[in-house]
Amino acid sequence: MTTCTVAANQTNPHLPFGDQRGAPFYGKDILSVNQFCRSDLEYIFGVAHEMREMVARVGTFDLLKGKIMASLFYEPSTRTSSSFLAAMQRLGGSIIPINEVQYSSVAKGESLPDTIRTLECYADVIVLRHPEVGASELAAQYARKPVINAGDGVGEHPTQALLDLFTIMEELQRVDGLTVTLLGDLRYGRTVHSLARLLSLYDVRLNYVSPHALRMPGEILSELQDKGILQSEHELLAPVLPETDVLYITRVQKERFSDMDEYQTVKDAYVINPETMTAAKDRMIVMHPLPRLGEIDMAVDDDPRAAYFRQMEYGLYVRMALLAMVLGKA
Ligand code: NCD
Repeated sequence: MTTCTVAANQTNPHLPFGDQRGAPFYGKDILSVNQFCRSDLEYIFGVAHEMREMVARVGTFDLLKGKIMASLFYEPSTRTSSSFLAAMQRLGGSIIPINEVQYSSVAKGESLPDTIRTLECYADVIVLRHPEVGASELAAQYARKPVINAGDGVGEHPTQALLDLFTIMEELQRVDGLTVTLLGDLRYGRTVHSLARLLSLYDVRLNYVSPHALRMPGEILSELQDKGILQSEHELLAPVLPETDVLYITRVQKERFSDMDEYQTVKDAYVINPETMTAAKDRMIVMHPLPRLGEIDMAVDDDPRAAYFRQMEYGLYVRMALLAMVLGKA
């Protein structure tokens, strides 16, 4: 289901920044990319762009002073958790970070709904990463405060997809007309599930390059086919690399495999190195949600087309925008 939050909340566009009556995402959950339409994305990226400028100009400011964010991570994370914490702190807010759920009451067997009910007594917004698909949706059913999905198992990672798209916009200044090649673990990688869906709001061509065992789920292929998106599946990168504008690489998600022998056979399926890059367009960008294992040789890092470190920084601005928006300040 695609709803359009911005269009549905067309209030007075002349209200000042920080006025809740002009904040279309006020009190909303961020659970899936399917909740966004193109005008929502334009709105989010507009705010993210302002955040980028504010951070460059003043570093930290008081837009969310007095607000508290609980960040509850049941799975490992470096970038997502620290960028959410940094985002809240750069906006002058405070945090309750729970990264080691084994030291919280979760270890005593507390259910997710009860943990959520607890945190919302203390916080104004809850950021949740959980190994089960649909966990954020479940949390949102119990929470009166906004819940932000920071990754639900092999399901979705909507804030990553938003920052991925923002990266493409900032780096290439457009999305329409681009050919995007998603490579690696398309079966278990939640970032590519969300990104493919989000890209389907634009006029793009999608190439999927993966080992046969790690193909993009059929459900996503048919969802995008219904929207008229041109998609093609490949096992080799070489035939599609020269036409690619965005090469989005993912890690093989070891923790999702039940059969470690299967993991061993696919784990080194692709390695991008400087030689690979010689066949790519001069203006192509290479993206990766990170962490990388062996799939991008470190020798590629100095290539100006390597956008994966810049991508992390864009994540800060997008998460600042989302927090400000759901808390009614943008
Ligand atoms: C990704 C994730 O957790 O899904 N990382 C991230 O959030 N930047 C990708 C991954 O773990 O491979």
